[in-house]
Amino acid sequence: MIRSATIDDAPDLARLHAEAFDAPWSEAYLGGQIGAAAAFALRDDGGFVLVRALAGDAEILTLAVSPAARRRGVGRALVKAAAARAHETGAENLFLEVAADNAAALALYADCGFEPVGRRNGYYRRGDGRPMDALVLRKTLSPANA
Ligand SMILES: CC(C)(COP(=O)(O)OP(=O)(O)OC[C@H]1O[C@@H](n2cnc3c(N)ncnc32)[C@H](O)[C@@H]1OP(=O)(O)O)[C@@H](O)C(=O)NCCC(=O)NCCS
Repeated sequence: MIRSATIDDAPDLARLHAEAFDAPWSEAYLGGQIGAAAAFALRDDGGFVLVRALAGDAEILTLAVSPAARRRGVGRALVKAAAARAHETGAENLFLEVAADNAAALALYADCGFEPVGRRNGYYRRGDGRPMDALVLRKTLSPANA
């Protein structure tokens, strides 16, 4: 079900991103990210994850699952695949930022073995202008848990 995404997937990924976030990333921006060195994207028909590897660490840049496909394990499978790929690149840690009020994502990431390691005050701005903190989460990668 999960495969590497290519530049040809950019329109689909932009649609999935727009379904999942208030501030969607454009097709051009997503295409650029997919084509960037040290970045990789994995997709399922119901969602995708974009990861960047850098200097022994890796970072999930975005993760989106279509509302129609949620709570069927797609998000968990994408995170697991991303962690495995990040480990293959030599990364020892997988980081991400998530809005402190995003209960669904926080539950998913806890389920996938991420732990909070920091907080960025007012990192996000909601549509109504309200600031929202980001939590920084980390998962330590090893053959056993990647
Ligand atoms: C967060 C998101 C990616 C989860 O994707 P998903 O495919 O629905 O997640 P899964 O079905 O793999 O869920 C795995 C586990 O995560 C937790 N979880 C997922 N969604 C949840 C929710 N709405 N409420 C509570 N727990 C939830 C549960 O523990 C779940 O296991 P269970 O279904 O066996 O109880 C999806 O809701 C989404 O795209 N949200 C909008 C975009 C977003 O917030 N992205 C992450 C930003 S960093």
